[in-house]
Amino acid sequence: MFNIGSLKFKRISDGRGDLTPIESETDVPFVIRRVYYMTAVDSDVVRGRHAHRALHQVLVCLNGSITVTLDNTVERQEVVLADPTVGLYVGPYVWREMHDFSADSTLLVLASDHYDESDYIRGYDVFQSEARKHFDE
Ligand code: TYD
Repeated sequence: MFNIGSLKFKRISDGRGDLTPIESETDVPFVIRRVYYMTAVDSDVVRGRHAHRALHQVLVCLNGSITVTLDNTVERQEVVLADPTVGLYVGPYVWREMHDFSADSTLLVLASDHYDESDYIRGYDVFQSEARKHFDE
C-alpha cells in the first residue's frame, strides 16, 4: 500500500536487557520534531479516526499489542503491532484507526512536525475527496 511501510529497528541485547535506538532521518524517513505516546487505552476504544495532510509518522508498539487499520481510499489494511523493534510508517493522506489495545500496551508515535490541528482531516468524507484529489495530482 503506498504511503505506508514497515520499518525494522535494531535490537542491542547484551544480557542486561534490550536497547533499541531510533535516530532521526537515519532510522525513520523524516526529521523527528515531536514524540508522544498513548497508555491506559481501554480495549474497546478506537483512537485516531483521522488523516493528516502533511505529517509523516512512525508508530511503534513498545509493550503489548495494538491493531492499526489503514485506509488510503484505494485499499484498507490491518496491521497488528506487537514488537518494539518494528515501526509502522504512515504518510500523508492515510486514514488511521488504532484499536484493540491490550491492557498493558504503550503506543509510541514519532512525528515529523509539531502539533497542528489544521493539518488534521477528521471527517471521513472530507478525507476521501481530499485524498483522491491529492493522489490524482
Ligand atoms: P487526538 O488527536 O484526539 O488523539 P487520537 O486521534 O490520536 O486518538 O488528541 C487528543 C488530544 O490531545 C487533543 O485534545 C489534541 C491533543 N494533542 C496535543 O495537544 N498534542 C499532540 O501532539 C497530540 C497528538 C494531541
